[in-house]
Amino acid sequence: MGDPEWWQNAVIYQLYVRSFADSDGDGVGDIPGIVSRLDYLSWLGVDAIWCTPVTASSNHDHGYDVTHYRAIEPSLGTMEDFDRLIAEAESRGIRVLLDLVPNHTSIDHPWFTSPGTRRSYYVWADRPNNWVSSLHIPAWSYDEAEGSYYLHSYLPQQPDLNWWNDDVRAEFDDILAFWFDKGVAGFRIDACYVILKDRQLRDNPVARKGDHMWDLNRGQRPVHSAHQPEVHDVLRRWRAVADRYDPPRLLMGATWVPEPADLVAYYGKGDELQLPQYFQLLFSDFGADALRSCAETWLETLGPGDTPVWLASNHDLSRFPTRWCDGDDRKTRLALAMLLTLPGACVLFQGDEIGMEDTVIPVARLRDSAPWPRDASRTPMPWQRGHLGGFTTGEPWLPLGDTERNVADQMADPDSVLNETRRLIALKKRLTGPYRPLPAEDDHWRYRRGAVAVDLDFAGSAVCIDG
Ligand code: GLC
Repeated sequence: MGDPEWWQNAVIYQLYVRSFADSDGDGVGDIPGIVSRLDYLSWLGVDAIWCTPVTASSNHDHGYDVTHYRAIEPSLGTMEDFDRLIAEAESRGIRVLLDLVPNHTSIDHPWFTSPGTRRSYYVWADRPNNWVSSLHIPAWSYDEAEGSYYLHSYLPQQPDLNWWNDDVRAEFDDILAFWFDKGVAGFRIDACYVILKDRQLRDNPVARKGDHMWDLNRGQRPVHSAHQPEVHDVLRRWRAVADRYDPPRLLMGATWVPEPADLVAYYGKGDELQLPQYFQLLFSDFGADALRSCAETWLETLGPGDTPVWLASNHDLSRFPTRWCDGDDRKTRLALAMLLTLPGACVLFQGDEIGMEDTVIPVARLRDSAPWPRDASRTPMPWQRGHLGGFTTGEPWLPLGDTERNVADQMADPDSVLNETRRLIALKKRLTGPYRPLPAEDDHWRYRRGAVAVDLDFAGSAVCIDG
């Protein structure tokens, strides 16, 4: 695990912990479950796992509403389990990344319930402004006791912290150090572009024709509720904490920043995030021209030394084998080849490696409280055939999808999507050299990485890798 800049060519595997592997039969995936599948992840060849939040939570948003930043959520395991995960992963050369949720806490967090911190740690207004949350609901809720409105950029159960308060900044320095001291290799940082808000809480301008799709959907441009220049002060502060460690810890941001020219600022001068996520690719149409132009725009925007990170699925959005590929494995292989041969880091979401699709869930079984439930991409991992899929022995918290598509069968089949993903991951380790575009016929995207030439044929849904 020697290379301090291991993340530059890394495959990071995102685990939706509740749906990965359940060790105790309560239907909820847990930390011992992850440990039990580390051999699989090692076989697959991933460099790191990023676990969605494992800290104590009220579970209105399954971990993204934290009640204690230094305690493990009891339904996921104990601190001993977590220490064991770090040790067992390390012995297989796998690093562990956690999810840091700095924009908001749970409404049940002691900072929100204690009179001493409640007012100064959160964002309050006597009269709400026009901001709407990322979930497209009003961003303010009235608090009877306080006689005032508190801000929530997400659910009402997730009050936003006041990042203008230096005490809040100091709290998070300590939280980062606590987990880094435990051997955590870094964080994926949730909603980090949102944490600071306009001090005067001015209204956002309404979205106009020509504005980015994300703003049109929300009906306003988040000029005052996100993307404040001072967010970069906080990112530099976190990076300084990460850089105190040997090896330096990784900060990967969930950065929904529409313009590449603005997103690139999240690298700072090499002193902010090492890996701001580029979501534009994920929203591209599935075709050679669209994807090529989207990827090349980003590559051309990057400064020297900036490492891109590519991803196509996550726990908030439809899985790419459904969204892009209509369940056609040839297209899924094409997408995987693209993700794993572009230069930089790649994040695979659990199940991507077998071409797992979204699952249609009966309304009564939905568990997400967001206005558009995100459960379809969060269903449990199908490890083997059968209605419990080897995920649990109990009643799964979300129903499993199609277990005909499962890990065990695909491991046994050399021609499966899974074995193809494994070969692509091994290939990625050999790929050196920058991205060099090559001329290509219609609906092909061709490029070179050193001695290796990649031909992505979108017309014929075929991949040719030479060299
Ligand atoms: C991020 C997470 C999402 C969560 C939200 C609020 O977008 O990925 O799952 O609901 O932040 O924390």
